[in-house]
Amino acid sequence: MIKHEKFETNSIILLVGILLTVAIGGLVEIVPLFTIGETIEKVEGVRPLSPLELTGRNIYISEGCYNCHSQQIRPFRDEVERYGHYSLAAESIYDHPFQWGSKRTGPDLARVGGKYSNDWQAAHLIDPRSVVPESIMPTYAHLAEQEVDAKDIGADLKTLAIVGVPYSEEMIKEATADMIAQATPDADTAALLQRYPKAIVGDLDGNPAKITKMDALIAYLQSLGRMVDFTTYRPELGTNAGGTQP
Ligand code: HEC
Repeated sequence: MIKHEKFETNSIILLVGILLTVAIGGLVEIVPLFTIGETIEKVEGVRPLSPLELTGRNIYISEGCYNCHSQQIRPFRDEVERYGHYSLAAESIYDHPFQWGSKRTGPDLARVGGKYSNDWQAAHLIDPRSVVPESIMPTYAHLAEQEVDAKDIGADLKTLAIVGVPYSEEMIKEATADMIAQATPDADTAALLQRYPKAIVGDLDGNPAKITKMDALIAYLQSLGRMVDFTTYRPELGTNAGGTQP
């Protein structure tokens, strides 16, 4: 009690005490950031989003889907059994900002890619009750009406490249063409798929006449959690083992 009194009655000692405490707290927060490059290991298969997927991600954020959905599977048995392999840091390495979220009114979406068909996703977004009768999710039918603007997506890629997402000059130059090709039935998608492996292509929302926000959002949802091949992923190595299991 007496020792404490010294701090409370002498402003210089109090000041030094505060500075010391803040300095230690600051170091604990800042020092680990210097090694972040090594802490988050690269994992095979993780790639930047395609221009159409990125547009879908922007819609996901603007519609506030994160208010009800997380995108982070924690390494607990109940989560892994329900949603699949726990999320790896590398899987959100190109997300600015990340969509981990903290609210699960609806299920986690980190691995929803490939879980349902494109038709199911479209029907569910237009009217969730048509496929899940007890659902409380709002309807997003307007997304099927609104066309997306493919013209400016290159600027988005360019901005992300500045903060470290490895979009190449070529990817930025071809962004508009790639975006249109991904959502157009029978388009030549060879170059697109080379740049963005595993991207799903074709008419995604059931309306081939125009590229809508629905096309973009479905492309994004179908990309979630599918980039890493977990049949060959070896966590102890932090890499894919190229198909050879011990
Ligand atoms: C008010 C909360 C709420 C909002 C906002 C919301 N959802 Fe949902 N979502 C739910 C609930 C609850 C479910 C579970 C019932 C169902 O499948 O409809 C769900 C289910 C889903 C599923 C199926 C997941 C699975 O594994 O079965 C997808 C995909 C989905 N939502 C996408 C979205 C997208 C994309 C948006 C934004 C455009 C969005 N949700 C906005 C509450 C919400």
